[in-house]
Amino acid sequence: MTQQLTTLAQLRSTIAAWRAAGDTIALVPTMGALHAGHLSLVAAAKAQCSRVITSIYVNPTQFGPNEDFNRYPRPIERDLAQLAEAGADAAWLPGTDIMYPAGFATTIHIQGITDELEGAFRPGHFDGVATVVAKLLNQVAPDIAFFGEKDYQQLCVIKRLVKDLDLNISIIGVPTLRETDGLAMSSRNQYLSGEERQKAANLHRVLQETASLIRAGHAPHILLREAEKELDGIFLRVDYIDLRNADTFQVQSSYQPPARLLAAAWLGTTRLIDNIPLE
Ligand code: PAJ
Repeated sequence: MTQQLTTLAQLRSTIAAWRAAGDTIALVPTMGALHAGHLSLVAAAKAQCSRVITSIYVNPTQFGPNEDFNRYPRPIERDLAQLAEAGADAAWLPGTDIMYPAGFATTIHIQGITDELEGAFRPGHFDGVATVVAKLLNQVAPDIAFFGEKDYQQLCVIKRLVKDLDLNISIIGVPTLRETDGLAMSSRNQYLSGEERQKAANLHRVLQETASLIRAGHAPHILLREAEKELDGIFLRVDYIDLRNADTFQVQSSYQPPARLLAAAWLGTTRLIDNIPLE
């Protein structure tokens, strides 16, 4: 049974009871609309901790004014059934009265990497992510928190946050779970029409083909230009496809490990992101 927690008092007494019993605690933060990718984080958490708590909160501050906050899917009953099946011990379901009560005035801004890629295309996005995740980490105070490599830049932002604020929490990144054609699982995939869904896997294919040519020693800037041209022919718009240092996010003009190839592109009104490691 997955316990449903909706108040800070309930959350704190549950955590306190687990601590008193000597449990180790894992947190898996999500915005719900759960799919197998999310559940792989729960599985990774269960493998390392005796208790797993998943938070579900569609965080308004990480959506831009023209983004999909209002239409973001919120299938809460289905999510809870999936969490029960995955063996999560508790679901933390805070409302906005808890996350952003009247008078809320704090924002966490991480400099540097949040100006790049996703940060450049979604101004303010990472401030919203860092602020809500800092709150969730403080509320739950887990031993370990699990994040997907699907949102690779977000994972790096959270690692920076935890380091800079001396939070005594390990952050673990979990590899991206994909559909059989390579499309990274995402709550936003359900926005895609049948035709768009057919095209969507090209993002991963082009990333893979480009990565293998870079590894073979071809010049990244030429390959990236060609990859962008190919994506442009399939997608409505390409926000970026770029080779970056996997830790600092600095542009790599020549391939030097550790590196990551990252991309974002639009199909209709749906924005897809993906990334792969080079090594
Ligand atoms: P959400 O998009 O719901 O994702 C929750 C977690 O699941 C994130 O760590 C994300 O990287 C991971 N995830 C998503 N798709 C995945 C896949 N195909 N394989 C593996 N992991 C995957 O990311 C957020 O929510 C929010 O920004 C949040 C961190 C909860 C803060 O609001």
